[in-house]
Amino acid sequence: MSALAVAPAASPPLGIWRYTPPPLPREARLRVVRPIEPGVVTDIRCALDPCLLSERAGLVPDPWQRELLRAPDRQILVNCSRQVGKSETTATLASHTAIYTPGAIVLLLSPSLRQSGLLFAKVKRRLKDLGGDFAELETDNALSVRLSNGSEIHSLPGKGETVRGFSGVTLIIVDEAAFIADDLITAVSPMLATSGGRLILLSTPFGKRGVFYEEWAAAERAVAARQTPAYALFTVRAEECPRIPAAFLAEERRKLGVLYQQEYGCQFLDVITALFRHEDVAAALDNDLEAYDFGEEVA
Ligand SMILES: Nc1ncnc2c1ncn2[C@@H]1O[C@H](COP(=O)(O)OP(=O)(O)O)[C@@H](O)[C@H]1O
Ligand SMILES: [Mg+2]
Repeated sequence: MSALAVAPAASPPLGIWRYTPPPLPREARLRVVRPIEPGVVTDIRCALDPCLLSERAGLVPDPWQRELLRAPDRQILVNCSRQVGKSETTATLASHTAIYTPGAIVLLLSPSLRQSGLLFAKVKRRLKDLGGDFAELETDNALSVRLSNGSEIHSLPGKGETVRGFSGVTLIIVDEAAFIADDLITAVSPMLATSGGRLILLSTPFGKRGVFYEEWAAAERAVAARQTPAYALFTVRAEECPRIPAAFLAEERRKLGVLYQQEYGCQFLDVITALFRHEDVAAALDNDLEAYDFGEEVA
């Protein structure tokens, strides 16, 4: 071996040698430690979790409402007792979608325009409670609002012909869906297929009839057969709602008899199917204005 030969450097023992980066320049360090604005943090948290948006608007969701607000499913059926808070929850979902999906189109449908208006009023109240930091209203009409991010929310009677004009719809919420005309779902399904939008049907039951019942029954059969149902299913009985007193329910049970299970127990009853024809129910509810009018801009 010559005198110039250099012994090979011993490799560092595993697990001990570590690379230490040089210190960051002072300006970079300052940039790293500067806190993110609290408003931005809140906004990101609310974007990720509609429950937080609901709390910001002053409504703390019940456990089942939390699940519904966080459900990722594209199609959802909500079969609930009266007064458990289905409309409030979906009003929050509509607001969340409009705020955090710029350019979203949200449709609120019910058997009649008057009923759609009740849900729409809840949505508007939610947006107002959240304030301009979340939702800046560009236009605010009797039947629709437009946010500064280009999102629109429309209140419509649940008839096939009124929704056919819309395309690229992000979210459709059908309130009182057990009373809806069957052609509505036929009209909205293709609209959602192309946009990848969501469909949420909510109602108390009304007999073993109509699209709400058919879809619920089909989904239950799929679950029983261990197949994936077309809809995620939510059901909440009155007894499970902390705001409905037991004494009130006892009195309702006495007054309503068998109908109690429909109104408060989420059951689709045969007796209703026997008593009412679908067309009669639709005719009783259908007291809307002739023309669909977006109204004057008021804000
Ligand atoms: N999480 C909640 N906290 C407090 N009040 C609620 C909550 N959810 C619903 N409510 C109230 O309960 C009542 C019924 O709610 P609503 O959404 O209209 O019920 P539903 O549509 O199921 O009949 C309303 O006064 C609503 O403000
Ligand atoms: Mg309701």
